[in-house]
Amino acid sequence: MSKGNLGNKVKLKTDVPGPKSIELMKLKEQYISKSVGVAAPIFMNEASGSIFEDVDGNRLIDMASGIGVNNVGNAPKEVVKAIKSQAEKFLHLCFMVTPYEGYVRLGEKMASIMPKPYLKKSAFFNSGAEAVENTVKFARHYTGKTATFSFQHSFHGRTQMTLALTAKDAPYKTGFGPLPESYKVEFAYCYRCPFKLDYPSCGVACADKIDEVFSQPQFRGKVALLVGEPIAGEGGFIVPPKEFYPKVSKICKKHNALFAADEIQTGAGRTGKMWCMEHWPEADYDLLISAKGAGGSMPISGVTGREEIMDKPQIGGIGGTFGGHPVSCAAALAQIAVVEKNLSRVKKISDYMTKRLGEMQNKFDPIGDVRGMGAMWALELVKDRGTKEPAADIAKAVKESAFKKGLVILTCGTYGNVVRMHPSLLMPEETMEQAMDILESSFSENA
Ligand SMILES: Cc1ncc(COP(=O)(O)O)c(C=O)c1O
Repeated sequence: MSKGNLGNKVKLKTDVPGPKSIELMKLKEQYISKSVGVAAPIFMNEASGSIFEDVDGNRLIDMASGIGVNNVGNAPKEVVKAIKSQAEKFLHLCFMVTPYEGYVRLGEKMASIMPKPYLKKSAFFNSGAEAVENTVKFARHYTGKTATFSFQHSFHGRTQMTLALTAKDAPYKTGFGPLPESYKVEFAYCYRCPFKLDYPSCGVACADKIDEVFSQPQFRGKVALLVGEPIAGEGGFIVPPKEFYPKVSKICKKHNALFAADEIQTGAGRTGKMWCMEHWPEADYDLLISAKGAGGSMPISGVTGREEIMDKPQIGGIGGTFGGHPVSCAAALAQIAVVEKNLSRVKKISDYMTKRLGEMQNKFDPIGDVRGMGAMWALELVKDRGTKEPAADIAKAVKESAFKKGLVILTCGTYGNVVRMHPSLLMPEETMEQAMDILESSFSENA
């Protein structure tokens, strides 16, 4: 596969899985915990731009982006260059022992691209879950309170605390309890409104329910933190209405609780703005959590927040051996620059996907809802548009058909009935068209 020559009409090869992948899958079965699942049973040899090539020479279009990580495609040359250059200087030193420039330059960059000027100071970690864990630490330390809240349909990670914050039980929580104490409030899932409110005037009334919960005697004066994804990712790309977050942030202020935006999946240009919360400009938040797409495909995550919150814990209370690894900092800085340069492209992707997915909804009855923003789009599938009974079987069948035809997409959703797509912000138009053609033909076979 010639690097850099992956635009335009892609010649796909889709005899999947091939013999080498089958052989490697046997090794996986023998030596790797079965609990680590895979969405597409092929082993990769190379990936560049929006195209994968597997060990058998199959070529497929990537609309999974490593679960919303490779926001500017696989191995962008600017990021690879930064990684190589840093790796040649030094690898691990540990910022807490002998600091290095990349960490503080990334802190400086994060402050400059935050949607709010008061989000000023950062700390860096390895995974998204680790950043969410630390968000809880910052919030409890600063507020002196303990209760943590998140939304129904949320996903915040797989560690014990983040599992407690995560809403979906199976497969994430099953058998792993008891989990730390944490509480849920309803999310603005308008397609399945938990309060039967009328869209779009529902945003404020929906948020007001949070006020009711925080005001209950067992929570009054005890809420340290509400953490929320601007768009619920794993929950099914659920986009709340315009009025929701401004009201949520007011309610948090009223209760002296911190509000943290988990931008792990929605950040770094994914929705057409650097941060998804910019779509709710009137909302305030105290902390912004980043990982995935912000990190140049390397493991790095961050919490960026108000100075007084970020400076509150004692020295040594926050950190970690590998947090803000120098190679990851270099990759993140390079990635953010590429995202900044290409943000304006996202509208094209969004317009095209809206058009094609809307046409598919008109054609295929199981597509109950089309949702998303920017380069983050999903289809919620139902057995019947009236009853909205979830159709997880169709979502799985469409994903598998698409895979056989050369398109890697993922499923998600509280009910497993959502097909989701995270194309690279740089996906060429022809590749996007090819991907949508494959998706449409996969629906023709299964819907
Ligand atoms: C919104 C959100 N928060 C947290 C996480 C956890 O991140 P990680 O898998 O890097 O721990 C994810 C991962 O999918 C996520 O989408």
